[in-house]
Amino acid sequence: MDLMQKITSLAKRRGFIFQSSEIYGGYQGFWDYGPVGVELKKNIKNEWWKTMVYGREDVVGIDASVVMNPIVWEKSGHLKAFSDPLVECKECHKRFRADHLDVLRNHENEHDGVEWTEAKTFNLMTEVLLGTTEPKEKSYLRGEITQGVFVNFKNVVDSTRIKIPFGIAQIGKAFRNEVTPGNFTFRSKEFEQMELEYFVYPSEKESEKTYEGFKEIRMNWYKDLGLDAKKLRFADHTPDKRAHYAKYATDIEYQAPFGWSEMEGVHHRGDYDLSSHGLKYRDGTTNEEYVPWVIETSGGVDRATLFFLIDSYIEDEGRVYLKLNPKIAPYKVAVFPLLGNKPDLIKKARDIYENLKKNFVVTWDDRGNIGKRYAAQDEIGTPWCVTVDFDTEKDNSVTVRDRNTGKQERIAIDKLSDYFQNKLDA
Ligand code: GAP
Repeated sequence: MDLMQKITSLAKRRGFIFQSSEIYGGYQGFWDYGPVGVELKKNIKNEWWKTMVYGREDVVGIDASVVMNPIVWEKSGHLKAFSDPLVECKECHKRFRADHLDVLRNHENEHDGVEWTEAKTFNLMTEVLLGTTEPKEKSYLRGEITQGVFVNFKNVVDSTRIKIPFGIAQIGKAFRNEVTPGNFTFRSKEFEQMELEYFVYPSEKESEKTYEGFKEIRMNWYKDLGLDAKKLRFADHTPDKRAHYAKYATDIEYQAPFGWSEMEGVHHRGDYDLSSHGLKYRDGTTNEEYVPWVIETSGGVDRATLFFLIDSYIEDEGRVYLKLNPKIAPYKVAVFPLLGNKPDLIKKARDIYENLKKNFVVTWDDRGNIGKRYAAQDEIGTPWCVTVDFDTEKDNSVTVRDRNTGKQERIAIDKLSDYFQNKLDA
């Protein structure tokens, strides 16, 4: 089994990610997050919000609607320019992205003598029909969450005390009619983005400094949360790859089992969007009116989740565990009674569980033997397991077992909260 097969199988077996509508055969390009997947994804979003919003005094957040007035997409250029080049196999009429050369080669290897049509562009926006009477009104599921920030630029400036330079952050779902979804959740039709739009005075020097600064901030965020630095790199966009709104751009790429792959984009959007929507900013002190320039950091929540899963997967002498940073691990602590049929042990363990639950996300397990319980927690990346055993009654201590080393130590029950908090803060 290759690494992607192992990850896909673990994701389903342990409740990280399931196929959407699986009981009906699934639905291509759509995925569901299970009980531990939703925790991992939520923790990644929370860490992002902590760094990009709470950690700064120049950033505020919003949560805009998924469906907007269709004029937004006309003005933003997405209806015209948000497209991918497609080629069609003349024999089986399947369509593929013209720029995904590995996928084209695969098809050529599977079907002898493939001939391709000329590349045609294909719009990625997903249409929705609204209303109760015919003809229904056509709008779109947002192709990027970004436009919700731009159309609220004036609202945010007018309703807060923020002034340039400042940023507006948002996390939310986006939808793209991808022709070749694939590599598990990597390319989906529905996915989540975590984005910052940072508005600066329109100057080459200032915007470039901000762009370089955010490149470092975003790269360090992934490294600090534990992604292998050797598997991360910047890849600057060549002019032909650049999106219609970008002056210049770079991707943060991760070396996935399927090759170097985009995880986040850092884009210099210039005044493209605010100008397209006819929006300006007035400096309250100088009264100068101008169109700010925008530096954007745009990360994929699903791609980050997938790459954290892949990167943390460890096989060590038959033991499989996810070496996730405890900050993003679905559960911080698992609590067990040594035996599931001894009422005294169960009562003590439940007291500890209830107490730890006040401060941490904790899980409980009293099924099977202790080895199986450790194995299950290892596979979902729980950093610490607490076992209440027969000595607990005598010494008021429990065994804490570390996921990465397998080492066990005795910790006094009344010190447990501090013990875990110190580890999480380290
Ligand atoms: N607002 C800018 C923007 O949307 P993008 O490079 O098109 O830029 C940003 O997308 C990020 O969104 C990507 O780096 C990726 O992480 C994520 N993303 C884009 N398309 C995706 C898809 N089909 N499936 C999963 N994630 C996707």
